[in-house]
Formats: sequence, C-alpha cells, structure tokens
Amino acid sequence: MHGARQGGLEGTIFAETSLSDVDGENGQLIIAGHRVEALAGQQTFEGLCARLWALGEGQEVAPAPAVLGAARVRAFALLPAVEPALRRLDGDGMEALRAALAQLDANAADAALVTAATAVFAAAWVRLRAGQTPLAPDPLAGHAADYLRMAVGHATPAHGAALDAYLVTVSDHGLNASTFAARVVTSTGSDLVSAVVAGVAALKGPLHGGAPGPVLDMLDAIGTPAAAPAWLQAQLAAGRRIMGMGHRIYRVRDPRAFVLERALAQLEQTGARDERLALARAVERSAEALLAERHPDRPLRANVEFYTALLLEAVGLPRAAFSATFAVGRVAGWAAHVAEQRRTGRLIRPGSRYVGPAPSAEQAGSGVN
Ligand code: COA
Repeated sequence: MHGARQGGLEGTIFAETSLSDVDGENGQLIIAGHRVEALAGQQTFEGLCARLWALGEGQEVAPAPAVLGAARVRAFALLPAVEPALRRLDGDGMEALRAALAQLDANAADAALVTAATAVFAAAWVRLRAGQTPLAPDPLAGHAADYLRMAVGHATPAHGAALDAYLVTVSDHGLNASTFAARVVTSTGSDLVSAVVAGVAALKGPLHGGAPGPVLDMLDAIGTPAAAPAWLQAQLAAGRRIMGMGHRIYRVRDPRAFVLERALAQLEQTGARDERLALARAVERSAEALLAERHPDRPLRANVEFYTALLLEAVGLPRAAFSATFAVGRVAGWAAHVAEQRRTGRLIRPGSRYVGPAPSAEQAGSGVN
C-alpha cells in the first residue's frame, strides 16, 4: 500500500446509496433519481431536500417542503445563544459555522433544523462580519432567496433562482470526503448534529470546499484573458495547483460546471459581468491546455468550484462566505446520508497495515498484551 496514489480509498465501494451517483468517466451526476442538468432550475432546493430525506429514510412519500421555512424561524430563535460562537469573524466562516452548529441540541435537531440552521447561521455570520445585525428569516420565501436576503439584505428573483440552482447542484455528490465523514460519525451511533459538524469540518479544507474564493483571487490576479497563459504557467512552475481544476472522480469536465455556467448565463448580465465570464472561460481553456501538457494521462478539467466562484459573486455574496454557502447546500445531502447510514449501515472501521517499529525481543516474550 505504499506510493503517492495510495491512501485515498479511490475505487473503493463502501456503501450502497439511493441518494446520488457520480459517473466520473462519462461526466454524469444523478441526484435523487434525476440528472443534475434536469434538476437545477426545475426543482427547488426545498423540494429536493424533501426527496433526498425521504430516500434516506426509506420512505415513499416525501414530507412537505414548507418545513424548511418553519425550521429557519426555529433556527433564528437560537441565534442569541449561538452568536458568541459565530463571532469568529475572520477567515471563511467555516470555523464560525462549525462552532455554531455544534451548539444545536442533539436531541432536538432533525434534518430540517440542521439544514435551516446552516443557512441562518451562515447568513448571520455574513452580517456580523460586516458590522450589521442579523436579519430574521421569512418562512414563506424560498430557501435560497431567503438565505441570500438574510446574508446581504436583498435578493432579486433572478439572483434567488441562480442561487437555488447552485444549492440544488451541490446538494449531494456520492461519497465525497465530508459526506463520508458524516457517515463515519453516524456509524458509531452518534447523532445528526455531530455528523453535520464533522461534515463542515471536512468541507473546510481547501481540497474539498475551499476553492471558490481562491478561484476569484486567481481571476483578479490574472486580470485579462491575454495574461492567463503566463500567469498559470508561473503558478505551475512554482509547484502550485490551479484552483477549480481537477477532480478525484471526474475524468471529463465536471457536469456541475456546465449547470452553473448555464445558470450564470441565465442571469441578466451587465457588461462588466460578461467580461468576468469571458475572463473565466479564457482562464479555464488555458489551464486545461497547460494541465493536459503536464499530465497527458490524467485529464484535469474544470470542477464545480470554478463556476461556483462566478455564480456566488454574481448574486452578491462576499467571497469570504463561499465555503459556508457550499455547506448551506451540501448539508441536505449530509442529513440524507445520515438517515441512510443509520438504516442500512454498520460501524465503519477499516483496517490498516502496521509499518511501525517492531517490539523488542524481551517485550515479545513478556506475555503482556
Ligand atoms: N493544478 C495543478 N496540478 C494538479 C491539479 C491542479 N488543480 N490537480 C491535480 N494536479 C496534479 C497533481 O499535482 C498530480 O501531479 P503529479 O502526478 O505530478 O504529482 C496529478 O495532477 C494527479 O493529482 P492527484 O493529487 O492524484 O489528484 P487528486 O485526485 O488527489 O486531486 C483534487 C483532486 C481536486 C484535490 C485536485 O485536483 C486539486 O487539488 N484541485 C485544486 C483544488 C480544487 O479545485 N478543489 C475543489 C475540488 S471540487
């Protein structure tokens, strides 16, 4: 088991799931029985939550989507108690979110509450960080639009719809690292809140959920399409990775990049935004070409986070909140996997191969164990 490409459990099938399927060779993603291309823009985030949670629970009938609005109100009522934990105002909000979600009562939290609380706490963090008072939820609004309004004070229908498409697109994605972490925690008999906190902790890392902010930093640093090849070349020569490129499973372009690019194009673009999209497309093409030269046998194409960065920027969210917004969508999948793991799984406990020092001869014969 030695070697640079070992230790990532790639190719290991550990669970059967009815929640999502990632076909990395053909670039196809199915979530709750629908191709992601057919889901985003057609199915609301709350509708998808209901479907995912019903599948996770093994139920046939999905509960009413309205539960999420009521749960946001419940989560907002917890804010005074949670606010000290949220006041980690530097960084990307993931530390604040992890600390705040850990305050939820494990005996009272259900899938709707943890999902609502992730949005309410993330939005409150954006407000607190800007020196503003958190805004109360509107239980009748769509989840995506309400999250956006609570975070930045306003949400046009077009921005709400684009963010809804984003949350749907990232809601679940097979056994990604954070979902696996949530399932491992659940497999010990632990609770939903602990599993969600583990999910946030895993999503915090730059190789999983932390790339969209750096993607925008990269676009800012590059500035114009003409500057892309030299900038990217220098980055690679310095041994650095291009953020938003490459994926553990996809060997073709991430299908979610198409969906988000389409959602972006549907937003009414100002001239400035068109320029941004043109820059991003030029950077993507250039990065793809350079990476193909360096790794002819390992396709490294744009992943979900490349266009996430542009979409979240276009709807007006600050880049510091991008990772937390990923959690706002992915928590739906974590909650469904927790239910599925409880129902069908058992304690997850893989083996390891010992390569440490051997005990001395006298210890070996001591009979102590
Ligand atoms: N930029 C430059 N080189 C990259 C790269 C990137 N974005 N992604 C992978 N590579 C290179 C690796 O350095 C490695 O090179 P080597 O063989 O010379 O050592 C080779 O491609 C294989 O990469 P590997 O580390 O096996 O890929 P992985 O499956 O472990 O990594 C990611 C997948 C997503 C972690 C990786 O592509 C990455 O770090 N991307 C940038 C971060 C990002 O966008 N994350 C969001 C993921 S949704």
